[in-house]
Amino acid sequence: MTPSKKKVLVTGLQPTAGIHLGNYLGAIRSWVTLQEQTESFFFIADLHALTLPQDPKQLRTKALDCVAMLLACGINPKKSHIFLQSQVYGHADLAWILGCMTPIGQLERMTQFKDKASRRGEDFIGAGLLYYPVLMAADILIYGANLVPVGDDQRQHVELARDLAVRFNGLHGNAFPVPEAFFPPNCARVMSLQNPSTKMSKSDPNQSGTVFLSDDEETVRKKIRAAVTDSGKEIRASADKPGMANLLQILSGLGGRKIAELETIYCGSTYGKFKDAVADAAVEAICPIGKKFAGLKDQESTLLEVVREGRKAAQLRADEILAAVREKIGLVAAGI
Ligand code: TYM
Repeated sequence: MTPSKKKVLVTGLQPTAGIHLGNYLGAIRSWVTLQEQTESFFFIADLHALTLPQDPKQLRTKALDCVAMLLACGINPKKSHIFLQSQVYGHADLAWILGCMTPIGQLERMTQFKDKASRRGEDFIGAGLLYYPVLMAADILIYGANLVPVGDDQRQHVELARDLAVRFNGLHGNAFPVPEAFFPPNCARVMSLQNPSTKMSKSDPNQSGTVFLSDDEETVRKKIRAAVTDSGKEIRASADKPGMANLLQILSGLGGRKIAELETIYCGSTYGKFKDAVADAAVEAICPIGKKFAGLKDQESTLLEVVREGRKAAQLRADEILAAVREKIGLVAAGI
């Protein structure tokens, strides 16, 4: 792939466990479309995964599974760079440089840090958890990103990347475009089917609230039928009906119809019938992906080849941008 004048898109996902419907509707599905108009860098954020304890063997498997899942979802390695974050040198170097310009209070106020740290309770909390958004800013800025498509939970992190780009450019001269976040028009925050006040998440202890893209048809239907709904009978998205609002946004995201249109279509229908419609749409979207994933998952040499190719392009771009940054801040170039 030759460098082009296209906008640069950068985004990633963590290899912590299965990829779910929230990741798909909130992020990956728009990546598939956006890769057509941009030069896209998609990576597995395996360095970010280290902020919580990981089993080394499982981490490797999960990282390659995520590559298989991206391919199954339609990310095309002929059009996009797909790689493992840890294989490109420079992310951690740039994170250090940016970290020296980041007020610690801004990191301590990050919602995800506060959430994750409080969920760890008495357990060990590494400094990496606090530093995570700086690494994420480095991931974005090291490729000169213009566009960062993410779900709503990453909003604050992309905001920090923007702040740091502006701060660095102001202090040392332009090194980075200021990246724009891109959120899908609906489904930027898909909620748990079991607890619609929390987002659908791979780390949810109640796995029946999370639909994984690798779930089989029966499991998908079972999870959606068991979704928590609210008292009353109306199929309406309102603040007092968070369960229904979530199912409506999922159906809207899957089928492309507006929520208001769905409320009209299902007016007078029962919760049971409505849930069946959501389950049908989910099965239609997810199950073909799950089947492709099952076929790709064990093709390790193909997956390794994809990330090898992706890494080459990513490393070239990262080297170029990091060299400019180093020069601007006065670090002596190697070899002089
Ligand atoms: P991660 O792995 O948690 O999620 C990957 C993508 O899925 C989105 N997402 C959701 N969208 C809607 N509803 C949900 N319930 C939901 N859950 C997850 C996330 O917003 C994300 O877009 N820190 C990032 C990975 C990362 C990254 C980056 C992203 C590391 N460096 C640089 C962009 C740019 C994360 O943990 O995503």
